[in-house]
Amino acid sequence: MKVVIKEDAAGVARYGADLFRDQLQRKPDSVLGLATGSTPFSLYRLLIESNQRGEISFARATSFNLDEYMDLPPEHPQSYWHFMQKHLFAHIDIDPARTHVPPGNAVDPISACNDYERAIQAAGGIDIQLLGIGRNGHIGFNEPTSCLTSRTRVKTLTRETIDDNARFFAAGEPQPHLSITMGIGTIMEARLVVLLATGESKASAIKAMVEGPVSAWCPASALQMHPATVVIVDRAAAGAL
Ligand code: GLP
Repeated sequence: MKVVIKEDAAGVARYGADLFRDQLQRKPDSVLGLATGSTPFSLYRLLIESNQRGEISFARATSFNLDEYMDLPPEHPQSYWHFMQKHLFAHIDIDPARTHVPPGNAVDPISACNDYERAIQAAGGIDIQLLGIGRNGHIGFNEPTSCLTSRTRVKTLTRETIDDNARFFAAGEPQPHLSITMGIGTIMEARLVVLLATGESKASAIKAMVEGPVSAWCPASALQMHPATVVIVDRAAAGAL
């Protein structure tokens, strides 16, 4: 696990965007693993600008998102499908048919999860996986106690994660308690993992991930066993290391 400490959030986004740019320049038909949340937002802006300047193209790329809320229609403003359209896909030259977000409103979620795994394999596996991290150490929606070899599945959200994500929902609006998420085993098969974290609120999760024991209590700690993970943090998120 390589840990890169940048001065601020802008430096984190720049370093992460450079890794994605290099990947796409080296292999234009890359399979990208993508993430939502507030952390990757600036990195996506940088990739959009690069794409618009013609430095990189997504035309031959394929993408798989990490996770999605269950029981939200895709067009709901808080669905991760909607997030990706709004913050990335609508602004780049990617073929919409090659973008994949777990189907949170599938009629048969269990077979939808298996189909998602199969689609990743059929695409040749993920070349570069972007991750954020929850304050409790979750990656995707792999909450603490997740099996470290888990595959794409339905996962119950913890109270802490529901509360952390409440800021995105209108007051009083019902919030999903279930998700579909790639598993930790799925993430561990990505050839390169790029995890971003900024701000003091992530400092203890970063410490547990980087310096703690490998444990299902901190799902991100599994990445200690991954052969090519780059953790990019600002000074605040690195504060407890
Ligand atoms: C959500 C997502 C995660 C993300 C996490 C942190 O729970 N499922 O993929 O990493 O939030 O989000 P933020 O970047 O907004 O702190």
